Amino acid sequence: MNEAPKRKHVRINVNLKICAKHEYRMDLCDSNVVDISKIGLCFKTDILYPVEAELELELEFPQDFGAKEETRSFYALSEVRRVEKIGKNRYLTGVEFKKVYPRFKRRLNKFLKMKLEKKMQACIVYFSLTGNTQQLAQIISQELKHKNFEVDLVRLEPVDGASTFAGQGMTALQRKRVNIGDVNCDLSMYDMIWFGSPVWAFSPAPALNTYLDKCYGLDGKKVAAFYTYGSGTGKGRAVRIVNKMLEHKKIKSLHSLLIAQRDLKNTQDVNDRVNEFMEGIL
Ligand SMILES: Cc1cc2nc3c(=O)[nH]c(=O)nc-3n(C[C@H](O)[C@H](O)[C@H](O)COP(=O)(O)O)c2cc1C
Repeated sequence: MNEAPKRKHVRINVNLKICAKHEYRMDLCDSNVVDISKIGLCFKTDILYPVEAELELELEFPQDFGAKEETRSFYALSEVRRVEKIGKNRYLTGVEFKKVYPRFKRRLNKFLKMKLEKKMQACIVYFSLTGNTQQLAQIISQELKHKNFEVDLVRLEPVDGASTFAGQGMTALQRKRVNIGDVNCDLSMYDMIWFGSPVWAFSPAPALNTYLDKCYGLDGKKVAAFYTYGSGTGKGRAVRIVNKMLEHKKIKSLHSLLIAQRDLKNTQDVNDRVNEFMEGIL
């Protein structure tokens, strides 16, 4: 028996114009983030709509909607089903399409199908000096692929920084930054993001500090951090430092996975732990 497909919301940037019945028209801001599911859509607005009110919506879809420019915009008669206050004079409005023009409906269904079938994208950004964290990153990547993710693995390669054990420990302890060269810091295209580092002097490695300073596009994302360590001294502190750095990046949830370097030898055990960890967050 076929398993029912999982319901998924897709996030699409559309331009939205609202023509209320009383000839009232307004342009919402261009990059209004709209959530569209099979039954309707959600948008942010500064107008308080009465629930059960009718709205005529004009939606202009982004380029990957797949149509020619002149057919990327559609009208849809909709009904407001839900209004939620999300801030001072800011509301999240949920509307249900009531009557949709056939051309729009066909195109929308095709577009949603395409979006729903698209694989989820994950990015694993990590630093590894002697290969342990890299080994863990690769196991995580494999497990994500088994779960139908497309994965980008990004190993941070500092172009400067200390070369001795003492120097590396000191720069980590002092939360120094290093030059990580030209690396992609825009994470907005990913559904899930992983950051990895060895524990260095009770801290994350400086290369990860630099990357966390620079990266963006984490709003509302699921984020996980993973670490490898030696004796285990200061691993909790390292996690707290990373969590603190990520705290103000508006992420939806943050989880940490820690594996001792000696445990990495037992690959099956690490696979199981990674799997269990993932089950808890996906
Ligand atoms: C400079 C330096 C400092 C370290 N400090 C710690 C530490 O404070 N606590 C700990 O448990 N392990 C510490 N370790 C051990 C590493 O965390 C461990 O070997 C890790 O798995 C290395 O990852 P990598 O092979 O990806 O570089 C340190 C290693 C180095 C090189």
